[in-house]
Amino acid sequence: MTVNRTQIGIIGAGPAGLMLARLLMEQGISSVILEAKTRKYVENRIRAGVLESGTVDLLNRAKADYRLKVKGQIHEGLELSINGQRSRIDLKRYSKGKSVTIYGQTELTIDLINTHLKAGGEIVFDAQNVQPNNFNTLEPKLTYSKNNIDYQLDCDFIAGCDGFHGISRSKIPIKDQNIFERVYPYAWLGILAESPPPSNELIYATHKRGFALYSMRPPSLSRSYLQCSPSLDLNDWPDNRIWDELQIRLGSQIDSHVSQGKIREKGVTPMRSFVVEPLRYGNLFLAGDAAHIVPPTGAKGLNLAMSDIQYLADAFLDFYKNNSFTGINNYSDRALSRIWKTERFSWWMTSILHKTKNESSFDDRIRLTELEYLLSSEAAMRSFAENYVGLPF
Ligand code: APR
Ligand code: PHB
Repeated sequence: MTVNRTQIGIIGAGPAGLMLARLLMEQGISSVILEAKTRKYVENRIRAGVLESGTVDLLNRAKADYRLKVKGQIHEGLELSINGQRSRIDLKRYSKGKSVTIYGQTELTIDLINTHLKAGGEIVFDAQNVQPNNFNTLEPKLTYSKNNIDYQLDCDFIAGCDGFHGISRSKIPIKDQNIFERVYPYAWLGILAESPPPSNELIYATHKRGFALYSMRPPSLSRSYLQCSPSLDLNDWPDNRIWDELQIRLGSQIDSHVSQGKIREKGVTPMRSFVVEPLRYGNLFLAGDAAHIVPPTGAKGLNLAMSDIQYLADAFLDFYKNNSFTGINNYSDRALSRIWKTERFSWWMTSILHKTKNESSFDDRIRLTELEYLLSSEAAMRSFAENYVGLPF
């Protein structure tokens, strides 16, 4: 068994683990990331693409925003399409000057990996059977194997940044986990296509046939989603059926045209809200999707992982620089406060935009009235905009 040591052992090289390692290194705190997949696999996952200003600021602090500054697209508004009737929401006006940046999470992950490795950071890809141990003692350790060699990584703290299906949360006794969960009766069929999006801003469409989202991956790709059954068989959805349905749900106004192109990726995303409390178990800390899941409607998954990481990096900095446990002791409550506000917005935006089969006529009318009220009330627009551009980290 080869034994090494670091200050923070991080499980997972997704956005959460990578950003934590970057922020720690910038403050002279050592870490090692143990990632189960290969670098190629991690750098090819298709994920969402809307960054809040807090996430952009963190990328700057992590010195990983060089491509974002060139390729990122600032969006000051978005559109809602209600049964084909389109209305624009001026995010900048109603959020006191804020906006969002369109930049693929795939690109963000690549930028964080390249920056960290170039700075001498340590990421162990293809680490097998990663196990957090002794995290209820002062000597936590991670064990894993690679190329048939067994390793032990001694550390002061373990950061579980290994996503919803990772090992970290599963190692905590279920009696100590307070789980809050909602599974939605629908999913999203997502495509990545070589065709321009129907508009230069995102369009969230609600229609009697279901929800649709029209997004983009600048400069030449479109990223679109269709509400579907969680048990959808992709074989039943050939390309032409997807394009036809996207056009129907967008409506047939003159400026509503969905260009068809080669579909590079096709997949089904289930919809879930999930939070586990607390986020700290001894010297094991959960962050990102390991701790919570939001439905993708509000584009909050990545951004919520980033606010967790800012708080966790602050906590470790407080410990190592000020010899204080205050940040560490407050991490869970501080992160959960913003997590729950974001869970609320993601649930609300999902609920008002997705029609369900067993929805009563009253529920359907309330849903449409929520949208009508949103578009007719400055107070409602301000509330929507401050949540969509991102609550303060
Ligand atoms: N051992 C080591 N690594 C693991 C293990 C394990 N047992 N289980 C999972 N991992 C790795 C995964 O391969 C992945 O690279 O942990 C990483 C977790 O990354 P994400 O799932 O991306 O989670 P997170 O970093 O919290 O980012 C959240 O990513 O999935 C999206 O919608 C999500 O946008 C949100 C963001
Ligand atoms: C995306 O571009 O993938 C995207 C954008 C906005 C969302 C969800 C996904 O709400």
